[in-house]
Amino acid sequence: MSDWDKRYADLTLRVEPARVLEDFAHLLPFQGEALDLACGLGGNALLLAKQGLKVRAWDRSPQAIARVREASAKENLDITAEVRDVVHLPPAPESWDVIVVSRFLERSLAPALAAALRCGGLLYYQTFVREAVHPEKGPRRREYRLGVNELSELFSSLRLIVYREEGRLGDLGKGLRDEAYGVFQRNGHTHG
Ligand SMILES: C[S@@+](CC[C@H](N)C(=O)[O-])C[C@H]1O[C@@H](n2cnc3c(N)ncnc32)[C@H](O)[C@@H]1O
Repeated sequence: MSDWDKRYADLTLRVEPARVLEDFAHLLPFQGEALDLACGLGGNALLLAKQGLKVRAWDRSPQAIARVREASAKENLDITAEVRDVVHLPPAPESWDVIVVSRFLERSLAPALAAALRCGGLLYYQTFVREAVHPEKGPRRREYRLGVNELSELFSSLRLIVYREEGRLGDLGKGLRDEAYGVFQRNGHTHG
């Protein structure tokens, strides 16, 4: 059993969507196919399905996927949750209207994620930064955290719609700290 599997056995863990998805849910299309990649307990998948999207949720932890299936069945949502190693089996090109990635950083996947969007498709991405206010939150290993401006650079082939990366500027008790987030669009028409 992996560390993640052990963690996901804890039934008290809160299931919630990433802040980037909550803050910018109004940019989502009203229909289409959405992917919650490295979904964990599937907080993003649940929000996407409630929006009316046809959702797939992938994670390599069987425990996480079992929990997502349970939550989805309980709420009668259109989510297909699958155990999948996304590094070995990345999403196919031009297959998704929306992709959400939160708190997972695998830099080598960035070109495949950009290419996996359909024309006009949206990528929501949020994860931890090195320039954190509370470095005890999130991964300890430096390579699992974003450097300055790195998220925008990873997806520079896409149109930048939203970007937040506040570092340690100003009033540290306010704002989005410890993480950066972005919403990116693959060029093409806007969806309705
Ligand atoms: C910090 S959790 C984030 C989960 C969720 N996205 C969230 O924001 O709550 C990272 C997740 O990535 C998954 N993961 C790590 N490597 C993976 C891989 N190669 N393929 C699929 N999932 C992976 C882990 O099982 C874990 O559920």
